[in-house]
Amino acid sequence: MVKKVFITRKIDEEVIQTLSSHFQVEVWHSEDHACPREELMKQAADSHALLTMLSDQVDKELLEHAPQLEIVANLAVGYDNIDVKAAAEKGITITNTPDVLTDTTADLAFSLLMASARRIVESADYIKQGSWQSWSPYLLAGSDIHHKTIGIIGMGKIGEAVAKRAKGFDMTILYHNRSRNHEAEENLQAVYRTLDELLEESDFVVCLAPLTEETKGMMGAEQFALMKETAYFINAGRGPVADEKALIQALQNKEIAGAGLDVFEKEPIDSSHPLLSMKNVIAVPHIGSSSFETRKIMMELCAENIIHVLTGKAPLTKVQ
Ligand code: DGY
Repeated sequence: MVKKVFITRKIDEEVIQTLSSHFQVEVWHSEDHACPREELMKQAADSHALLTMLSDQVDKELLEHAPQLEIVANLAVGYDNIDVKAAAEKGITITNTPDVLTDTTADLAFSLLMASARRIVESADYIKQGSWQSWSPYLLAGSDIHHKTIGIIGMGKIGEAVAKRAKGFDMTILYHNRSRNHEAEENLQAVYRTLDELLEESDFVVCLAPLTEETKGMMGAEQFALMKETAYFINAGRGPVADEKALIQALQNKEIAGAGLDVFEKEPIDSSHPLLSMKNVIAVPHIGSSSFETRKIMMELCAENIIHVLTGKAPLTKVQ
């Protein structure tokens, strides 16, 4: 019997071809629109593998309606959209795409930091709107990046890659993590701080923590209040790690200087959301790993994981 793979978005044709040479493959027809829940449930019912996006909810209900399912290959390093415990109970392998997206995601996080500090989006809008009447000493003056202090929350691979970039800017590197990262301390001179200390001392707080029960809402009103009035909050991890209401208040009350956000509590964020009308907020639509090169490699890794598991071999990047 030929095994069935369902891919929840239109992805790279070559990757689809690779999978099609081994399995029966069905693909949701759209790249921009998510596969509706009903369709995903229907497809999962007779699939042996699912290639999913971070926006697909792979919960207990879905897993229980998928009796033949052997693997869910998630096109992301984060996998908070998947009920990993329920999958383990059913013997279903979950894989993600670590390492291959590290540098691309770090580039985006650091871009948000730079764009926020130097008011790049505001400046680009200013000139395009014809507002530039005269050069002036403090025209769209921002904040320096070099020789400042960066505080990285979540010192995994992406955190280390952000620290590497910060080092090139002669920044002082602080970090907070569940456990000490001795490699980052040795190689990047990153200094461990408690969360409160990091928030008090940093000019840029860069949040890269994964979403777990422990990290949900870890950046709340109390935490924003600890930050310097001149500091920026950058989030390229997961939206719900920061309490958006508290973030809005901190921005409105000028407790912090600005924010650069790739992730949100609810994605896609509503266009009328108050964060989107704030001048000192740069918001981009969860594009951390979105370069043509990296997305293709991520897709290939998902396909390899599926081929491995469906042919009885060990997956390459199993989660946990
Ligand atoms: C992921 O893959 O989990 C990240 O959010 C990259 O954008």
